[in-house]
Amino acid sequence: SQHPIICYRQIQPSDLEILEQLHGDIFPIRYESEFFQNVVNGHDIVSWAAVDRNRPDGHNDELIGFVTARIVMAKDTEIVDFLRYDSSKPDQTLVYILTLGVVGSYRNVGIASSLIQEVIKYASSIPTCRAAYLHVISYNNPAIHLYKKLSFKCVRRLHGFYLINGQHYDSYLFVYYVNGS
Ligand code: ACO
Repeated sequence: SQHPIICYRQIQPSDLEILEQLHGDIFPIRYESEFFQNVVNGHDIVSWAAVDRNRPDGHNDELIGFVTARIVMAKDTEIVDFLRYDSSKPDQTLVYILTLGVVGSYRNVGIASSLIQEVIKYASSIPTCRAAYLHVISYNNPAIHLYKKLSFKCVRRLHGFYLINGQHYDSYLFVYYVNGS
């Protein structure tokens, strides 16, 4: 087979079906169909897709990786404890990374790293933005390795944060500070 040519683009309405399918395949948590609608329509959510332009048989624009994120007000989040929060600037924002995934056969070639770099670039371009942050389940070693490699700081362990099939799991809170925070 041919070598992959990975490109990054915005997620669009025609990606809806594959986006939903990939989330179902990759994550232990179910997402509402409203979430996927909001992603593909860019309602309150920013997202990036990875595609392989060399993928044969009409799949050369099909998602092989994605990242989704939302802008939130810093004062409404648990991150406010980890910012030198300045109450004279109540409009401070954060970018919260919701989901990140790469199709199995495309892992370990840097696609997730590039997708997260896009999020960091975006967060850095927003003057009010202080950080990008996310939760990751405590047993997800590939993801934890990735965020540490990209210089995210693990600031907290949250006990029983996730409930999956009746079982509680801890999560780590990872933060990447931007704009001199
Ligand atoms: N244990 C430790 N590190 C690992 C493991 C493992 N089992 N497997 C891979 N890695 C490392 C690789 O060695 C590589 O690091 P390196 O560059 O130092 O060698 C790194 O993890 C992977 O880097 P990328 O190639 O940029 O990442 P990739 O494109 O493979 O995607 C991802 C990583 C997104 C975690 C992928 O494995 C995936 O889709 N997993 C399932 C979904 C998931 O866990 N998503 C993140 C959840 S957190 C959230 O969504 C906010």
